[in-house]
Amino acid sequence: MIERISVIGLGKLGASMAAAFAQRGFDVIGVDVNQQSVDAVNQGKTPVQETDLDNVIAANKRRITATLSHKDAVLNTDISFVIVPTPSDDRGAFSLQYAEWAFKKIGKAIGEKKGYHNVVLTSTVLPGSTRQALLPILEMESGKRAGKDFGLCYSPEFIALGSIINDFLNPDFTLIGEFDERSGKHLEDVYSAVMTNGAPSARMSLENAELTKISINTFVTTKITFANMLADICEKLPGGNVDVVTKALGMDGRIGREYLTGSIGYGGPCFPRDNVALSFIARELGVQASLAETTDTANRSIAAKVAERLLPMVRKGGTVAVLGLSYKPFSHVTEESQGVYIAQLLSKHGLRVVAYDPMSKEMALEDIRRNIVVLDSIEECLSQAEAVLITTPDPAFKDLTAADFKNDWAQVLVVDFWRILREKLDNVSGVKYLGIGLSQDDAANSARLKQLWWGQPADSLHTGKQ
Ligand SMILES: NC(=O)c1ccc[n+]([C@@H]2O[C@H](COP(=O)([O-])OP(=O)(O)OC[C@H]3O[C@@H](n4cnc5c(N)ncnc54)[C@H](O)[C@@H]3O)[C@@H](O)[C@H]2O)c1
Repeated sequence: MIERISVIGLGKLGASMAAAFAQRGFDVIGVDVNQQSVDAVNQGKTPVQETDLDNVIAANKRRITATLSHKDAVLNTDISFVIVPTPSDDRGAFSLQYAEWAFKKIGKAIGEKKGYHNVVLTSTVLPGSTRQALLPILEMESGKRAGKDFGLCYSPEFIALGSIINDFLNPDFTLIGEFDERSGKHLEDVYSAVMTNGAPSARMSLENAELTKISINTFVTTKITFANMLADICEKLPGGNVDVVTKALGMDGRIGREYLTGSIGYGGPCFPRDNVALSFIARELGVQASLAETTDTANRSIAAKVAERLLPMVRKGGTVAVLGLSYKPFSHVTEESQGVYIAQLLSKHGLRVVAYDPMSKEMALEDIRRNIVVLDSIEECLSQAEAVLITTPDPAFKDLTAADFKNDWAQVLVVDFWRILREKLDNVSGVKYLGIGLSQDDAANSARLKQLWWGQPADSLHTGKQ
């Protein structure tokens, strides 16, 4: 029976997993190269910012310790989860430099250990990394053989920042890439004791698991981008409404409802880079991944598309407010955030950009503040802006009313990417409401369709002239 688990890398994912294991009754040793992270955990505090993590670590203080020593962790536990950074390199591949270093230390410790130890790589890597790049390090440093003396798995978690612990404990399934049957079964036993929802496991080779991980995120980015394309089309249809279309689409069991909300593009630390990495590995293997490449190109063109549309509608040098700087609500993460990309581009085009995010106090905003004025309240933003862009469906923005948008400007343009204020702002005097994915001009849209089917110029039909 496995009772002791080590987690190598106490970052956002690792610290959350360590806490979740402890909450489920395991003794956990966390390892990090950062003394502050180690000290924080030993004091019963969280080393990183993540929902509920401080409470879970504090409540399970007696079951979690942390150390700088990989050796102590390996010698005193049965299984090690390795969750160190794998940053994207210039080619779009994931760098293994941190993982290689961790595997060296783990390998050395396995060399000194008497019993079996299972090593589970959780960091996101490309197909081939675990077997071809990291396994030889373990064997070389330990002088032992995988499958005989120690186990090896690749097992990423499917979690979202802001709900890591809950997602980890309640996954749709667990993905287990295994070097051999014994390592996979050993890990499966840990998961079945930890996961609270009886999730099934998918066990497979290391390479298939590595591909599955990046495919899932790439598939989701494709789905998001498909819904965004439908939003663009809906804007050109009389009565077009992307929510009506995607709601019905999602009822088809083959498609499903999730991540099918036409809006702004995706961002954050995983989706964009996993998509690019899939294209990279495909190219390297001589396979075309044009679907993934097109998705990435479409997503990266969103800020330019928004700027092109907005600039003619705002005075040169005018003030625009961007509500939402994180890549999603309840997150302080601004990595690859569409709100930030749009704000920066508008500023580059000579507009004055003010911004607000409910979590801006927790954000690293040094770079952003160079071009954008980040304010402390929505009210301050709205009082000066002649155009307002709502980039995340944050509850704080959903609560706004028409009165909140009144200021010295005769008319305020509101671009609502998530259509969260449609009911409150559509047809309100003093507000020009632009809901993304909604028909903006039914007459012009009808005329365009009429021209398509009857071959008459749209202009003459729109104006009633023959
Ligand atoms: N955060 C997410 O949402 C998420 C989701 C899925 C997958 N992942 C993947 O998980 C991995 C880790 O992501 P993260 O967000 O937790 O990273 P992070 O940067 O928050 O944390 C990584 C931690 O590892 C530590 N570290 C680096 N080298 C080490 C070593 N040799 N030994 C011990 N500790 C070491 C760092 O000091 C840091 O505390 C990445 O591959 C990432 O792609 C992350």
